[in-house]
Amino acid sequence: MSEAAARFLAEEIKRKPDIVLGLPTGATPLGMYRELVTAHREGGLSFSSVRIFNLDEYYPISPRHPQSYNRYMWDNFFGRVDIAKENVHIPSGEVPARDIIKYCESYEKDIFACGGLDITILGIGRDGHIGFNEPGSSLSSKTRLKTLTQETISDNGRCFASLSEVPKFAITMGISTILSSRVIMLLASGRNKAEALAKAIEGPVTCEVPASSLQLHKEVVIIADEEAANALKRKKYHKFVEKMWLKDVWPGMLYK
Ligand code: F6R
Repeated sequence: MSEAAARFLAEEIKRKPDIVLGLPTGATPLGMYRELVTAHREGGLSFSSVRIFNLDEYYPISPRHPQSYNRYMWDNFFGRVDIAKENVHIPSGEVPARDIIKYCESYEKDIFACGGLDITILGIGRDGHIGFNEPGSSLSSKTRLKTLTQETISDNGRCFASLSEVPKFAITMGISTILSSRVIMLLASGRNKAEALAKAIEGPVTCEVPASSLQLHKEVVIIADEEAANALKRKKYHKFVEKMWLKDVWPGMLYK
């Protein structure tokens, strides 16, 4: 999954060096970031003109906090490639509360000023969330402050010293911000994502499963491992589609 995702991105970066990317954090993309770092160090892939907008950040949180998404991105990816600091945009977890609405509007404006998102990479939550758009999020939502669900807060508890330290909010791109991206690539691995992925791809479009909104988009690439794909009713057909695309439409694109 990680190799295929990195290969897809590397090709797109070579095609458009100043590409605008929407990027996620979490466990899922770690392998993809590792592959991209290798492509930079060993294959000379340059990120010097690539522009980044991260999907989300906890609120409130300092960018220096070890669990902040800012820190995650610099530790796992940006700090290991030739990305230009001024091209990196990560929602701030330190905006004064009274300025949040204006700040979120300015995040949207900055995306627009860069010409919009070219490719946005997503992971998927067990409840079908994308970014921090929890179930029930409006399909027309833009970047905003989102209150996390109890499940997300307790899931995130693992990473903080105590549950009381886990931020209860996040600033996240909205579903409509994500859908404005020209291409979306969703990554899923492991059996605990199988049910969410099946609902997202084969279930009805509903705000209860935010990832199901991707059905409304015209160019979504889903890269899933066998376990994550296991609950798909039409798995056989999806595999056939993959085989035919890699043979006739994107030869050599995702796999070596
Ligand atoms: C994080 C994000 C989230 C994660 C999702 C899956 O920036 O956007 O939607 O992608 O929670 O997380 P992992 O990959 O840790 O299972």
